[in-house]
Amino acid sequence: MAAKIISGQEIAGQVYAELRERLRRLQERGIVPGLAMVRVGQDPASVSYMKQKEKSCQEVGIRSETIVFPEDTPETRLLEEIQRLNTDPKFHGIIVQLPLPRHIDARKVIEAIDPKKDVDCFHPANVGKLFIGEPYLLPCTPHGVWQTLLRSGYSPEGKHVVICGRSNINGKPLFAILIQKKAGANATVTVCHTGTPNLAYFTRQADILIAAMGAPRAITADMVREGAVVIDVGVNRVPDPTKKSGFRLVGDTDFEALVEKVEAITPVPGGVGPMTVAMLLWNTVTACEAQVSLR
Ligand code: GUN
Repeated sequence: MAAKIISGQEIAGQVYAELRERLRRLQERGIVPGLAMVRVGQDPASVSYMKQKEKSCQEVGIRSETIVFPEDTPETRLLEEIQRLNTDPKFHGIIVQLPLPRHIDARKVIEAIDPKKDVDCFHPANVGKLFIGEPYLLPCTPHGVWQTLLRSGYSPEGKHVVICGRSNINGKPLFAILIQKKAGANATVTVCHTGTPNLAYFTRQADILIAAMGAPRAITADMVREGAVVIDVGVNRVPDPTKKSGFRLVGDTDFEALVEKVEAITPVPGGVGPMTVAMLLWNTVTACEAQVSLR
């Protein structure tokens, strides 16, 4: 039987309904959450992601501003802008879209963001809080994966979750979220990476398999067991001459083959992507609520 296809789009819609309610309560106090988004250069994927983030902010009622710097902007100029945004009370969240040009030290830039406004949850202070089990906010894509599992009826509680990929943005924080001693988490987690010999040996043991290694269609049908739940975090552009753009998006799994074998799977696009955006908005509202209650 073909797998259930988990729609991130649909689940994001539920999240937006909940956010509108929280926004209404803030509005009663005259407060509108604000998100500042900074980009350096014109990386096509970054341009596309930021447009989606902007559009979703507009739809839900969050004030957003996109600030674009030219590719050759000095690091000091970017750091100055972050200082300005840190002290601007209109903005409760700040993100700097990655990747940055090579002459800019991304770590320095991330560390310049006020941790209270760090809605990506990339700042070491916030990563540290997450790893000691006292999170302020959760990073957007990993949080989106977790919410996708919970809201589609596949709680990771007590399950063996196998994560492929150990990036700071996805694999590592996903591990920290899913091992939390907390209802809805409490998973047993294996993290595989480029140093893992015989990847399939591990992936075949997964109740829940999370593909986040950034390798197009790398997880094939022989690497999963029947009945597994598969979350595909990959977003890869592959050449496709039949498309006007010249490319199409594929995930890190061989979706067409897996859909015939597994219990449930997220598509690319329309799976984790919309949930990443939804959780960014969630974090902006949460950061706003935390900041206004401190005043
Ligand atoms: N580049 C790819 N994903 C992300 C993300 O979630 N946040 C930022 N700031 N940059 C990214």
